[in-house]
Amino acid sequence: MHLTINNSPHSCTPAAGQCLRSLLRDQGCYGVKKGCDAGDCGACTVLIDGTPVHSCLVPAWQAEGRAITTIEGLDHPMAQAFMDAQGFQCGFCTGGMIVTASTLTQAQRTDLPRAMKGNLCRCTGYRAQADAIAGIAHVDQAPGQAAAPDAHAVTHGTAPFTLDVAIPGLLHMRLLRSPHAHARLVAIDRTAALAIPGVVAVFTHQDVPAHLYSTARHEHASIDPDDTRLMDDTARHVGQRMAAIVAETVAAAEAGVAVLAPEWQPLPAILTPAAAMAPGAPVLHDKHTSRIPDPARNIVGRVQGTHGDPAAAFAAAAATADITVDVQRIQHAALETHAAIAWMDGRRLVIRSSTQVPFLVRDTLATLLGIAPGDIRVYAARVGGGFGGKQEMLVEDIVGFAAHSLGRAVQLELTREEQFQATTTRHPMQVRARAAASADGTLTALTLHVVSDAGAYGNHSACVLENACGPALAQYRCAAKSVDATAVYTNTVPAGAFRGYGLSQTLFAVEQAIDQLARDLGQDPFAFRRRNMIRPGDALIGAHAGQSDIEFGSYGLDQCLDLAEAALAQDNAPAPDGPEWRVGTGMAMTMIDTVPPGGHRAESRLSLAPDGQFDLHVGTVEFGNGTSTVHRQVAAEILGITPGAIRLHRADTDAVSHDTGAYGSTGVVVAARATELAARALRTKILAAVDDPAAQLTPQGVRTGETLHPWASVAAPGLAVVRRADGSPRSLAFNVHAIRLAVNTGTGEIRTLRSVHAADAGRVLNPMQCRGQVEGGVAQAIGAALHEIVRIDDHGRVTNPAFRTYHIPSWADVPHTEVLFADTHDTIGPLGAKPMSESPFNPVGAAIANALYDATGVRFTAPPFTADRVWEHLNDR
Ligand code: FES
Repeated sequence: MHLTINNSPHSCTPAAGQCLRSLLRDQGCYGVKKGCDAGDCGACTVLIDGTPVHSCLVPAWQAEGRAITTIEGLDHPMAQAFMDAQGFQCGFCTGGMIVTASTLTQAQRTDLPRAMKGNLCRCTGYRAQADAIAGIAHVDQAPGQAAAPDAHAVTHGTAPFTLDVAIPGLLHMRLLRSPHAHARLVAIDRTAALAIPGVVAVFTHQDVPAHLYSTARHEHASIDPDDTRLMDDTARHVGQRMAAIVAETVAAAEAGVAVLAPEWQPLPAILTPAAAMAPGAPVLHDKHTSRIPDPARNIVGRVQGTHGDPAAAFAAAAATADITVDVQRIQHAALETHAAIAWMDGRRLVIRSSTQVPFLVRDTLATLLGIAPGDIRVYAARVGGGFGGKQEMLVEDIVGFAAHSLGRAVQLELTREEQFQATTTRHPMQVRARAAASADGTLTALTLHVVSDAGAYGNHSACVLENACGPALAQYRCAAKSVDATAVYTNTVPAGAFRGYGLSQTLFAVEQAIDQLARDLGQDPFAFRRRNMIRPGDALIGAHAGQSDIEFGSYGLDQCLDLAEAALAQDNAPAPDGPEWRVGTGMAMTMIDTVPPGGHRAESRLSLAPDGQFDLHVGTVEFGNGTSTVHRQVAAEILGITPGAIRLHRADTDAVSHDTGAYGSTGVVVAARATELAARALRTKILAAVDDPAAQLTPQGVRTGETLHPWASVAAPGLAVVRRADGSPRSLAFNVHAIRLAVNTGTGEIRTLRSVHAADAGRVLNPMQCRGQVEGGVAQAIGAALHEIVRIDDHGRVTNPAFRTYHIPSWADVPHTEVLFADTHDTIGPLGAKPMSESPFNPVGAAIANALYDATGVRFTAPPFTADRVWEHLNDR
């Protein structure tokens, strides 16, 4: 067939059933992304004869004789507009988004929710893209508005993501997944699969190491339960991988999976924590694996503690509140699915992966495959969103094993359906929060009872439980507290690290209980919190009292409350007309300590090169969190140069020093701290080299008196430094979300009239980027509160494993949120900064629930608050 791609004639022959998206990628157009292959997300948008289409829905043969334009060939000012507005974070959606936006008429630009409904973004909340389309620029030369280093590549479709690479002789892997929630694989006949032309190998539990490990990745692996095998003979959830087929083509691998003949012995499945803990329940992990607190009762994590005398405080209270919530399972839904390619480079194993944690993947693979860590290289290209989901080793182990066994390159790309059925989710939790206060509004007791559904494997469950309980209790000062929390195995898709790391679930109960207490006492929710919130000097009493390395490096919670309260009173949209509409306001607050449990380590290497450029080597991964920008900005500010003078090298175990990984804002508060220290040390070395402590460092070079020494002339072999940060002590960051909404009691529809979010991020190094992070976190939380739920049926199957049925927020679903920052300067974080990528998510759901109560007098305790569920709840009360 003949077609034109980006103004160049092409001749090719589509494979049977091939879609245009896949054909274009075969032709090297890697700017055309695969987000869903179902026409839902728009990451694959291209122009056919000038008309935007989702290329995954177009049979390739229909491109015969047509002119195809991809983001790489799009000659349109919209790409520059997205650069100028920094209309992206991870950038995985950006090419498709720009292609669609380039076709909008002026009339269509006045209704972007409709015009852009076919392009989803999981990172931004759409405001940045709206600004781009409106021609509003944010990037300029000011240090706080520096462009992302990859901005041009991202907006022109040339930024390479994990699979955007051509590897000769690449094999493809597809996986047989369990159809049963709990079953033993008794036998499997590989004969038919191996007979399929192109099938190279079939692997099962019989072929892989018996070593048990955790897919969760932490600096110290010993904090997660070792309960997982590379492939097991027992399936513990629907979708668990049970066999891997490696073939010359994806089609051959899929055909091989289809003819595998597994023989199953079904086992009784337990789908709820209550059933899992009931006497006589099947034991899911019966081996003597380490770090499972109570395997006989399927308990994988536990947090218990008491401070003071809660019972006495409740007995003496003037008012009490008691709220139990059921917080649902949701998915990260990063637009780039998990993917990895592995190959042998001589005797070394190389893995290119969509991981947030290259070093930790390398170290576990070394143990798993019996290879020295030095003989493994793991690196990440640009990662298309993570939100905690890529802090797990979910694909690297199996492709690493296959490539090591076969001596050939092997690729695995999960489908969107696999992403829902077989990766990880947020932990569903039932949380009971009780609070008590005296008549004057002093909080006297706060207790938490939590049951967390870990799913089939422990992963992060124990650590998530700790983090879920600790800050939720510690953010209030009161004399009596207690926690009784349990994480439980069930035969469902495993839960893992998710933005906020458990806090959004517990805060959903705590912040409703506090709200109820304030209302019952006739007090304003803002005022009640001001009276009872933690303040500098207070002991941090959360899950455990006692010593910790958490300090008040700065404090802006008071400012956040003031900012949010004042903003909520302004600029409200008018309420809809009609007697069925009720209007309510709600707010909630959150505290987060800034570094994940178990320690965190990062090294930064900074040097002045002979060409006058600076080389900065950091381990942290860029997945839309903006750490690349922050690292260059921190170093540039200290060295007196421009960010553009710094070449960034990142996320490659061969090229940079150890970094625990990019999660929990550690890319800023730990890794950028190492960069700060390195920059200060290099500055000192440079001043010593020119032998003039009074010298000025300028973008052009070092100025001593009237003499300017260009950087290239200053460069010398010794002008390189390495510095390390370990994430301790840890500081505290704060967020307040406030919302006014209207709810239709006749239909259950919710409309947002005003949404404001105040954040204490310390010194905001890059306001443009930080605002985007907050907006993205709020948008994701709105999705969690109003739309999203991973539905699991009575057989343990995920029944909505697609964007179309899962419903991440589209353009029309995300209201404008005004973002405000407290004016603080942290004494611990780099240049006074604190983290702000995951915490904006945490208070939003509770604020919405409190507003719903204010509007209707009904407590909404089981999100998502879809119109039908709201209507049912209102009419069942
Ligand atoms: Fe849109 Fe990440 S920037 S999906």
